[in-house]
Amino acid sequence: MAIILPFILLFVGVTAAMDQAHFPTNLGWKAELSKSWDVLGPFPIHAREQQFLSPSYPITISEPINFTRTWPSSYADNGRVGWTKTQATADGDLKVSFPGIRWSDLRATEGWAALQHHAVLHINLTLYPTSGSNATPPRLLVQLVQGSYIAIVPEASGSESSSPPEWHAGNIYALERTLPRAIDLPTPPSTTSPTTYHVFVSGDYEIRLFGAPRIGIPTQAIKLTIDIETPKDWVQLEPTQDVVCDFVDGYAFGDAIGVGVRSLGGWWTVIDAVLSPKLDDFAVELLSHTTLAPSQTRIIPLHIIQTAQFTRPTLSIKLTLTSSDTNRTLTLPVVHSVKHLPAWSSGNLSAISGTYFYGQEMPTAFSAFPPLLENTEHQEPQPPILCLHGAGVDIASPFWIDSLPRQQHSWLVTPSGRTAWVRAVSILLIIILLIIVNHRKLKGLDWHGPSAKDAWGSVDALVAILAVNPSWHTRKLADGMRVVLMGHSNGGQGAWYLASRFPDRVLGVVPAAAYIKSQSYVPLIMSRSAHFIDPAVRAILESSLTPDDNDLFLSNLVDMPVLAVHGGNDDNVPVWHSREAVNVLLSWNAEANVTEDPRQLHWYPSVLKNNQVQTFLDDVLQKASHRRPRSKTFTLTVAVPAESGSLHGWRIERLSVPGRLGRLTVDTLAGNEIRIVTSNVDRFSISTDVWDDIGSLRVDNAALELQQDPGSTAGVITFERDGWRSWKLEASSQKLPAQVSGRIQSFLSTSAPLHLVVLDNTSSRDVSMALRIAYDLNAYHKLDAEIILGPESFQERLVASGAVGNILLIGNTRSRSLASILENPQTPFRIENNVLVFKDEILDEPGQGILFLHPHPRDPNGQMLFLLSTDASGLERAGRLFPIRTGVTVPDWLITSSRADQTGAGGVLGAGVWSAGWSWNEPMSWLY
Ligand SMILES: *[C@@H]1O[C@H](CO)[C@@H](O)[C@H](O)[C@H]1NC(C)=O
Ligand SMILES: *[C@@H]1O[C@H](CO)[C@@H](O)[C@H](O)[C@H]1NC(C)=O
Ligand SMILES: *[C@@H]1O[C@H](CO)[C@@H](O)[C@H](O)[C@H]1NC(C)=O
Ligand SMILES: *[C@@H]1O[C@H](CO)[C@@H](O)[C@H](O)[C@H]1NC(C)=O
Ligand SMILES: *[C@@H]1O[C@H](CO)[C@@H](O)[C@H](O)[C@H]1NC(C)=O
Ligand SMILES: *[C@@H]1O[C@H](CO)[C@@H](O)[C@H](O)[C@H]1NC(C)=O
Repeated sequence: MAIILPFILLFVGVTAAMDQAHFPTNLGWKAELSKSWDVLGPFPIHAREQQFLSPSYPITISEPINFTRTWPSSYADNGRVGWTKTQATADGDLKVSFPGIRWSDLRATEGWAALQHHAVLHINLTLYPTSGSNATPPRLLVQLVQGSYIAIVPEASGSESSSPPEWHAGNIYALERTLPRAIDLPTPPSTTSPTTYHVFVSGDYEIRLFGAPRIGIPTQAIKLTIDIETPKDWVQLEPTQDVVCDFVDGYAFGDAIGVGVRSLGGWWTVIDAVLSPKLDDFAVELLSHTTLAPSQTRIIPLHIIQTAQFTRPTLSIKLTLTSSDTNRTLTLPVVHSVKHLPAWSSGNLSAISGTYFYGQEMPTAFSAFPPLLENTEHQEPQPPILCLHGAGVDIASPFWIDSLPRQQHSWLVTPSGRTAWVRAVSILLIIILLIIVNHRKLKGLDWHGPSAKDAWGSVDALVAILAVNPSWHTRKLADGMRVVLMGHSNGGQGAWYLASRFPDRVLGVVPAAAYIKSQSYVPLIMSRSAHFIDPAVRAILESSLTPDDNDLFLSNLVDMPVLAVHGGNDDNVPVWHSREAVNVLLSWNAEANVTEDPRQLHWYPSVLKNNQVQTFLDDVLQKASHRRPRSKTFTLTVAVPAESGSLHGWRIERLSVPGRLGRLTVDTLAGNEIRIVTSNVDRFSISTDVWDDIGSLRVDNAALELQQDPGSTAGVITFERDGWRSWKLEASSQKLPAQVSGRIQSFLSTSAPLHLVVLDNTSSRDVSMALRIAYDLNAYHKLDAEIILGPESFQERLVASGAVGNILLIGNTRSRSLASILENPQTPFRIENNVLVFKDEILDEPGQGILFLHPHPRDPNGQMLFLLSTDASGLERAGRLFPIRTGVTVPDWLITSSRADQTGAGGVLGAGVWSAGWSWNEPMSWLY
């Protein structure tokens, strides 16, 4: 059935004509993978331990490999496993399984956790020169789907001098439209004879990604393809990365366009963009100069300026780029087809793709479906319904938005959550979607951090878009409007998350087929690290999961209408998750309902489209204009203040001991006397409209004088701890920044594109680390990053100019420029006699990797992350702990060592959460 779905937007990209004179076609290379793989495994592991262990655990690939040796593994009979062989198909599809293991016995006692396993895979790659001997060494274009890491090492590795392998993350979630990763060969190939390289892949079976067969043998389905490309001083368009909005009645539904561009070599800066030919009443404008590092892909941000209808079928844009190496200028023509939708007055409504700039400059798409009816003059706009998709569901496919109940007066908003965005979808994808919806969990950031920001950003963008065009005002929304939340699977989990972290923005919530938190979904019991680590350190590491533990924050839903929906036979997210979450809510004295659909599995078309859900929505929407009911007693629970909103106007802004939960219990007694009991809170605030309701106030048993009226000009009233259980009050219209740190992942919640600074621009491995992280940020989170070389550029571009956007700084602990940056230490890390010192501990052993959060040089709401190492292997270890995936337990700072290769987090030398003011936090720190 070859159906071309109507929402397909065809991209017509015209690649710039290549200047053949400059670049002799240099395809004198052929790459070939051997067909047979060597496989070593399975080894027990818990999800995300791979970030701490060596990806080649238990072997060391810088040593010659002995294919006859065996290794201990508790999964195997007699406790040892050896190398076996398996074949890939011609397309690179590889199935890895271990039929000799008695899986059902393991599963009978350990459950899903026992299916988690790790394996090391090896294959040979041979490069053949086919023409001429002067060919430029090629570079590899690698697609590793559902494998966790890949390394390419020279055949003759194993000598003392050989440098540690560079590990590159695979596309473990099989995200759509991920570009191949450019990997430089570790050594140039011979131009006269074939050259063989070893390819190593870390293969990790995660139930969340591969599904959990009820019976049978867990099988990894990995795909590896390797192409070659000749680096050249040029750029090319990458249409799969483009972001474009639809046009309704000739008007752009959003102000952002993104054009994917990749450098094939050299540093290129996009300096201009114009519509071609120019029009009087429609223009695009480059939002900011965008610089591409060699082999880097970025999405160029273009701003739409429109004053009249635009009805052409295509948008033709000309980009101008200059090379900073040669001063050469080139223009790239880009042609987008435009999807025009009819005016809503025709009564013809359909889902619309809108766009906005996330984090100031990152073009981002969302999808929305208008309310069926217009508001009459006397009707207030009705709140929108924010709908969070499950893992593996692309919002550009109609699958998700079509499974949502259409509303008479409410918009349906489906944000992408920062995962990739489809432009062209086939019927095949719909079928795949239905399959993966059934077994792919946990992707991107699970609607936390940047994904949560994108969810709110999409709602705010819709409000802004509708406000601009008067003909859309009959369906407009009000600023700061509260929403009703819905979500399925990972999105159901996200609905619990957003509602309980931002309760004042939410009117009601329908979480469907949701899991509570990742550790409840698949337990961490088969952990290797756990056999080595001091449980005190483990507790500190696991505090970085606290912000994601939905059950701990259910106190915040005390007055929230909740309807949890779950298929009674769900074989993917077990139904007890919803029952348990509702049970926890009930113990906080909240009202909540769970509805089970007997015999239904994880996904069924009526999961959100049914009478019960509609009745719930009608009820919540009808009461929307009223003031939300408020219990006499409620408790606000917070883990990371900067990533949490208020409850009934009360907000926790700073914790006494970050890393532990903060709680604020508010009790209303007769005569509007308010009694507050704090736990681990250092600063909290209320908005002035709540203040007016307060008769008298006691905080932690001390009466607080309600001095004069704080004044209606003051937006918030702040309470600061002033000694043990004593508080002082301050009214101010100035919002103080809330505590931003708490775990390393908070680094991703940047307010603008990230800056990746390489201190030593002559270290190709440091530059490669920046390129690897930039690639991962784009692939996994669609977060944009600019690479900046050298300490001078850092000073000029980021410190002196006051740029916002979080900053990653990559360098060696002995770098001279690091010494000058840390000259006035703002954390306990400092440089003494040219070595890095933490408290009194000198960090100068080979193999150490150090990560720590640090204040941003300019932006009090921003952060810097130092990624330091004592040598190349330490850099690799630290790099794998950069927060690309959820569930990797890294708090604010961490020091890892070569022991981690074999013992995972057991090799951690120190870890902790900063105190307020970025200082040492005794109860939440551990140093060997
Ligand atoms: C490889 O391992 C086998 C089995 O442990 C051992 O007998 C053999 O000596 C090893 N070969 C080398 C070259 O180390
Ligand atoms: C890889 O190449 C080596 C020679 O370098 C050879 O001994 C080995 O059999 C090859 N392995 C595979 C899986 O082709
Ligand atoms: C590029 O142009 C700038 C000024 O336009 C000049 O200072 C610089 O030397 C030129 N660089 C090269 C490599 O030609
Ligand atoms: C509704 O719009 C679609 C395009 O979005 C168009 O194909 C269809 O003919 C329209 N139907 C009516 C009744 O206008
Ligand atoms: C739960 O269901 C009961 C009736 O079954 C209803 O009265 C109540 O309002 C519902 N609560 C919520 C929070 O939806
Ligand atoms: C490193 O930076 C210096 C000055 O900032 C510059 O002169 C040099 O060309 C750079 N080297 C590389 C490899 O980019």
